Amino acid sequence: MYNGEKLNPKQFIEESIAQIKEQVGGDTVVLGLSGGVDSTVTALLVDKAIGHKLVCIFVDHGLLRKNEFEEVLAHYEGMGLNVIGVRAADRFFAACKGITDPELKRKAIGKTFIDVFADEARKVKDAKWLAQGTIWPDIAESFSDKGTIKSHHNVGGLPEDLGFELVEPLKYLYKFEVREVGAALGLNAHFLGRHPFPGPGLGVRCLGELTPERIHILQEADAVFIDALRREGLYDKIWQAAVVLLPVRSTGIKDGRRSFDNVVALRAVNSVDAVTAEVVTLPVEFLIKVAQEIVAQVDGVNRVVYDVTPKPPATIEWE
Ligand code: XMP
Repeated sequence: MYNGEKLNPKQFIEESIAQIKEQVGGDTVVLGLSGGVDSTVTALLVDKAIGHKLVCIFVDHGLLRKNEFEEVLAHYEGMGLNVIGVRAADRFFAACKGITDPELKRKAIGKTFIDVFADEARKVKDAKWLAQGTIWPDIAESFSDKGTIKSHHNVGGLPEDLGFELVEPLKYLYKFEVREVGAALGLNAHFLGRHPFPGPGLGVRCLGELTPERIHILQEADAVFIDALRREGLYDKIWQAAVVLLPVRSTGIKDGRRSFDNVVALRAVNSVDAVTAEVVTLPVEFLIKVAQEIVAQVDGVNRVVYDVTPKPPATIEWE
């Protein structure tokens, strides 16, 4: 097993497959796919070990990027994974109604995820194991000796009464190592190069109450930023980019009239393991162009700012 030395992806894959086979025997395993690299690589490893005894569940919590659920689901099916797509946005918005505190929000999303996931997993006959894409920084940050910084919801959030035992083949790896393993498993470059995306999704980038209307505004602004990064060849040079919808409104002028609308913040950081992160110095001309596009194309936004704070002291996500 991986012991902290330079990872040999092929060897890691072989050893993981053998270990998963030994661990789960002939049992059925369920796994929550998120669209991210970690859960996808976990799914591919378990799929290699036990094939269709792995049942993947991909939940649309309504907090994914624009069109992401449909695109990623099609991609998973194309990879030959045994995957069930579940649309559950209404349940998440209902659970988060009225909540503005970031940790309570994260907990409401985490709990609803478990409820939705459990409802689906119970339908899977004889499921005994739960595979998770937990990686080392998730564990390190959730149980830091200075107290919990954020309750990342794939750590410690699983109630024991679900009755599953855990399979976590990536739990001693860093993100860059997960990508190396993904590449060795044949995951395509577009998928592998996707920026990390938090489990609670846009929920932790929509400050204040989560409503379908506010998430829609955020999805639209996010799509403009991400498309522009790809168009200008900047996306692959950045570790993680995000748009954050702020809980304030500002005065502006739109179509010659006074507007009093939302403000979004753009964030782009480089990092190795998410434990620290530095701000990407995007060209000012690029930022001004993106701001113009967002304000012109996204109803309800009249101001765009750029976050220039490294981690620490700020975290990558605003909540
Ligand atoms: P922070 O904001 O703590 O983020 O600097 C570090 C990395 O973790 C991601 N992140 C999360 N991932 N559940 C997740 O699965 C969460 O609740 C969560 N919060 C933050 C974040 O996107 C960044 O890559």
